[in-house]
Amino acid sequence: MADTNPLSNCRLAFIGCGVMAEAIIAGLLRKKLVGPEQIAGSHPRQARREEMHVKYGVEMFEINRDAVTEVSPETPDQSSIIVLAVKPQRLLGVLQQLKGSLVKEQLVVSVVAGAKIETIAEELVHVSIVRTMPNTPAQIGEGVTAWTASAGVSEEQESQVCAMLEALGEAVRVENERQIDMATALSATGPTYIFLVMEALIDAGVHMGFSRHVAQELVHQTMLGSVLFARESHKHPAELRNMVTSPGGTSAEAIYQMEKGSLRTVLSKAVWSAYQRAEALGRK
Ligand SMILES: NC(=O)c1ccc[n+]([C@@H]2O[C@H](COP(=O)([O-])OP(=O)(O)OC[C@H]3O[C@@H](n4cnc5c(N)ncnc54)[C@H](OP(=O)(O)O)[C@@H]3O)[C@@H](O)[C@H]2O)c1
Repeated sequence: MADTNPLSNCRLAFIGCGVMAEAIIAGLLRKKLVGPEQIAGSHPRQARREEMHVKYGVEMFEINRDAVTEVSPETPDQSSIIVLAVKPQRLLGVLQQLKGSLVKEQLVVSVVAGAKIETIAEELVHVSIVRTMPNTPAQIGEGVTAWTASAGVSEEQESQVCAMLEALGEAVRVENERQIDMATALSATGPTYIFLVMEALIDAGVHMGFSRHVAQELVHQTMLGSVLFARESHKHPAELRNMVTSPGGTSAEAIYQMEKGSLRTVLSKAVWSAYQRAEALGRK
């Protein structure tokens, strides 16, 4: 393994091995950033523990604290990350279980939606906390994760977090937790907007007379190709749109109908409402 890999000497414990923890573990192993012997996990159900062990070769524990102590640094050059990946309603109980089991060198990375750094820091009496907000395409390594760190997180730990999150797709560092709420509305809720638009376009294709299968293929590749084209061309979306909008043509007609139906305003309101909701859930 190359020396430039910031995780080469790091051991990781995943508390709650559900969908998101599995996506990170699978990504880390796929990219060979760590070996299975560097990973421990915990899960209350034996069947899930066995599944994770057989599938990825990682050591699994029933007791959350045991996974944390398993990956404690044994030598000064070793580092350790504890990933909190339970559902938000389980977090408080899990933090209470973990309290006192961490050593100060360990970094805590939370993927739990809405959980504030301050809450985790207070419950664990720990200073090195990273809060992240991934999205569902992370499950195939095509996600985007916003993250921010407490003041107690070192530069080395930050590069480890970056490497770990890049196993899920792209990682974008944001300035503060307010921006985590903003990312919750834009990128974490984002697939919902895209899927709805996708569904509406496929239905429109079926309405015209295409079979669902053909409509789906046409829409999927149109969306995928448009995103890749936008990214590669580095052009503003309006410029790309103007390139295909000929006078009196089909695009001009379609744009007129979308503007008339306030599509732009509807999307903007949806994102803004999701942001307010993320903030409100974080206050609970
Ligand atoms: N999935 C996503 O795309 C996504 C995106 C952004 C953020 N997140 C965040 O990621 C976190 C995990 O989400 P997820 O989708 O991975 O959920 P999940 O699949 O339900 O994973 C959580 C796992 O934790 C287990 N668990 C329950 N109680 C536990 C305990 N006391 N100790 C240890 N493990 C326990 C659950 O077991 P059971 O199955 O037996 O209940 C479940 O397997 C959530 O907080 C969510 O907000 C997820």
